[in-house]
Amino acid sequence: MDLKINSFDEYKEQYALSVSDPDGFWDNIAKTFTWRRPYDKVCEWNFDEPSVKWFLNGQVNITENALDRHLETRGNKLALIWEPNDPKERAVRWTYRELHAKVCEFANALKAQDINKGDRVVIYMPMIPELTVAVLACARIGAVHSVVFAGFSAHAIADRIQDAQAKMVITADGLNRGAKQVPLKRVVDEALQACPSVEKVIVYDCVGWEPKMVDGRDIPWDQAIRGMAKDCPPTAMDSEDMLFILYTSGSTGKPKGVVHTHGGYMVYAAYSFQNVFQYEESDIYWCTADIGWITGHSYIVYGPLLSGATTMMFEGVPTYPDPGRFWQVCDKHGVNQFYTAPTAIRALMAYGEDHVLSYSLDSLKVLGTVGEPINEEAWRWYHIHVGKEKCPIVDTWWQTETGGIMISGLGHLSPMKPAHAGYPLPGIQPVLLDQEGKEIKENGVEGYLCMKYPWPSILRTTYGDHERCRVTYFSHYKGHYFTGDGAKRDENGMYRIIGRVDDVINVSGHRFGTAEIENAINANGIVVESAVVGYPHDIKGQGIYAYVVCEDLPKDPSAIETARAEIVETVVEQIGKIAKPEKIQFVSGLPKTRSGKIMRRILRKVAEGEPDKLGDTSTLLDPDVVEEIVKGAL
Ligand code: WTA
Repeated sequence: MDLKINSFDEYKEQYALSVSDPDGFWDNIAKTFTWRRPYDKVCEWNFDEPSVKWFLNGQVNITENALDRHLETRGNKLALIWEPNDPKERAVRWTYRELHAKVCEFANALKAQDINKGDRVVIYMPMIPELTVAVLACARIGAVHSVVFAGFSAHAIADRIQDAQAKMVITADGLNRGAKQVPLKRVVDEALQACPSVEKVIVYDCVGWEPKMVDGRDIPWDQAIRGMAKDCPPTAMDSEDMLFILYTSGSTGKPKGVVHTHGGYMVYAAYSFQNVFQYEESDIYWCTADIGWITGHSYIVYGPLLSGATTMMFEGVPTYPDPGRFWQVCDKHGVNQFYTAPTAIRALMAYGEDHVLSYSLDSLKVLGTVGEPINEEAWRWYHIHVGKEKCPIVDTWWQTETGGIMISGLGHLSPMKPAHAGYPLPGIQPVLLDQEGKEIKENGVEGYLCMKYPWPSILRTTYGDHERCRVTYFSHYKGHYFTGDGAKRDENGMYRIIGRVDDVINVSGHRFGTAEIENAINANGIVVESAVVGYPHDIKGQGIYAYVVCEDLPKDPSAIETARAEIVETVVEQIGKIAKPEKIQFVSGLPKTRSGKIMRRILRKVAEGEPDKLGDTSTLLDPDVVEEIVKGAL
């Protein structure tokens, strides 16, 4: 089970091997897992259709590897620690044996509700241990989970349920977030008005609200598990059977369902976890992400559990009850590896060092970041005040679509450079392409970041629409997977990710398509059309700047305020609070070319506060509009 590389020299050897003999390299890793039937081929692929298959004809169940195979040697080791929102409440500590029993029990409950292999189950839950149980229970019986982050609106959930044609929703009455409680069941009820595919809803009692239950549809969690056996044989899955769908935003309006499968995802989640975090047997590992995002899937649930690690889940927020909470929790549980997002670091930085300096943080060995580029100032703060200059920072670059970490340092093994993700993991073959799609081979260059060879956890398709997968990721540069990111490679071959080069905005590490937010804004009756761009934001990385054309342009300050509030409300309804535009500028028209295409470059420059760098505007239909936009910039 130990897949760990132990020195930088060994990394270089393994990397070379993974390129010269990828099949042999991955076979060596994959065969350490428990297969119900061995695979007969390591990989078969082409990036044209695309069609990528790993560990062909193997049968496996990811939960057998994440739970059962540890029982003999680690049955009494802690699998999961849960730290509640309220520091006065007791933490939950489950051993591998206990987690195994809970997962089996709930898997049996799902079966009793007629959930079968291949059925889709949407999970909309708080960050509580039962969320992990629900995810693993689905995988155990071969049902496909699709976790929806518990900050999305009813409208957004309904979209996802309909797209996945989900048969069941698992939710809770509500959730605790800092000093607030947020309803979940009520949001699900609203969503389900438009979702006839859903037959059953299981509701966990998290905040004690006793929500209204719909007869014949809704079942309390406790009732669902009553009398269920605590053992449930794992369903044998083909390597390429779907494990989960996770919706993510792209440059078109509708979020797409990224599909990952049992075999390849399993191998890569475990391999990358052990190497990036250099996890050692008695370590306590904490990733602060939410399981509603890919980071939580791969590095709270699957990667750590597949590795027999102790993984921690946190229900709360970094600033409750005070901005020292993360560090208090690190000391309380003796956390060894700590993995968070740059936006959280920047937010905590703003409260000053005192909150971090009052904790010892002695146990920390490795710090990680993910989700967006980390600026040097935040990197240094993290390194000096949290890591006490003795912990390496692994800046992990990857995506929902890649399933696992692609470019990153490996704990203390790799050289480190602020704001640089560093080198690719073994098995990962990044390239930088120029405008024409030609590979730039030298160092000290910049280009579009693509991959020229598959890895086990690459997305297989976008659910229900394979063509969309092809067009989005495999059609820009023939024979390559296109990430949507731009990157630099320095003199020593270390990668630095610059950010998205497509119409995707990254707000606090959350991805939104500009078209997705525009559609939401346009859903408001007063809006004629809109254009959304990102602009640099001190804490969130990027903020959302919307240019809105209304039927009656609001003129006086109070009318403008009212119209803004209305539009924000519509976005919250359509997507959720996480997509609120920071700035809304009302304009009489948008800068368009004669063919009707919005010139976003101009809007971006204005939003970035650089109206003197608009470039060529001669192809515009109506140049006057630009002057008005520049004058009214917020
Ligand atoms: C960005 C999150 C710079 C990038 C795991 C990518 C990063 C998108 C980093 C994927 C990083 C993620 N440095 N940028 N270390 N990690 N990104 O799908 O633009 O939510 O394409 O996956 O986040 O976001 P996603």
